[in-house]
Amino acid sequence: MIEDLNKLFEDFKNQLSQVIDLQQLDNLKTDFLGKKSPMGNILRGLKDATPEERKELGMKSNEIKEAMTSEIENKRIALTKAAIDGKIGSEWLDVTLNLSPSKNGGLHPVSIVQYEIEDIFASMGFTVLDGPHIETDYYNFEALNIPADHPARDMQDTFYFENGAILRTHTSAIQVRGMEKTKPPFKVIGPGKVFRVERPDATHEAAFHQLEGMVVGENINVAQLISTMKTLLSEIFKRDVEVRLRPGFFPFVEPGFELDIACQLCGGKGCSVCKHVGWIELMPCGMVHPNVLKAGGIDTEKYSGFAFGLGLDRLVMMRYKIEDIRNLHSGDLRFSGQFI
Ligand code: FA5
Repeated sequence: MIEDLNKLFEDFKNQLSQVIDLQQLDNLKTDFLGKKSPMGNILRGLKDATPEERKELGMKSNEIKEAMTSEIENKRIALTKAAIDGKIGSEWLDVTLNLSPSKNGGLHPVSIVQYEIEDIFASMGFTVLDGPHIETDYYNFEALNIPADHPARDMQDTFYFENGAILRTHTSAIQVRGMEKTKPPFKVIGPGKVFRVERPDATHEAAFHQLEGMVVGENINVAQLISTMKTLLSEIFKRDVEVRLRPGFFPFVEPGFELDIACQLCGGKGCSVCKHVGWIELMPCGMVHPNVLKAGGIDTEKYSGFAFGLGLDRLVMMRYKIEDIRNLHSGDLRFSGQFI
């Protein structure tokens, strides 16, 4: 019987060396260690052996069983590793591979123009500020001279959270945070996304971008405001574009202006984008209201300031002659791929 066990082990090793996958390995395990295996038969025969034989055979069969089990597990590890290595070899992915130039990623047109504007203002000594999308009523309205029941709130239909927080309706909230952080004189811009309850059309979105600007110092005046606006537009368009300034009302500026740009899609003749008036409302602005400066802890006897709120998406539309603002946020690669 010892002979039989030795032969069985030799046989096992022979067959194990030919196993090439995990399925074959499981079959081999059943063949050699399963209930109906030759090993099972030998163990069942132990009951007829003498006590000495039983002892010797019992030890030998256990030894061989353990050896087989350990060789099977070693083989399992080797086969699993080989399978993983094979997969790594055959399924690797080169994420840097450039199959076609049109598949390159790139900046969104709003980001392209935003970064250009940041550079223009940085060259004029402005600092770029940021602010949160979720704002408090104080930063979005109260500190901007728009108290709770002021009719000006109706001009910016607002998304409210149940806890009273809001999605900021304009980047002017960044002005207030800027005044808290910076002592005058200062020049800051604050680009970012803003949110309003809007019925979208060619020039209105519910989530769009603005770029706030604020300058506070001694003897700041309207002439400086206008010249800053002009510099910005001539740098962005690289040519003169027709603009018009008209009175505008915003509780946080006095006097306040609306700066409109001649519609670049129809050249000012009138089209569906400019609603046939030839002008697009682009960049309201004005001299900062003393109440706003006071809320920001600024001495209004000494300092004055101007501020503006540029409609960034509309500027992008005018720059690239885009007929519908909704294209900008459609996520359609056929659209955004044109700017890469
Ligand atoms: C404001 O949001 C003021 N905070 C701007 C301001 C800042 C005035 C500082 C004075 C001093 P208004 O709601 O008009 O103003 O929005 C500013 C610009 O954002 C608009 O001229 C327009 O270009 C753009 N805009 C407004 N609503 C939308 C919209 N729904 N979709 C796309 N662009 C919009």
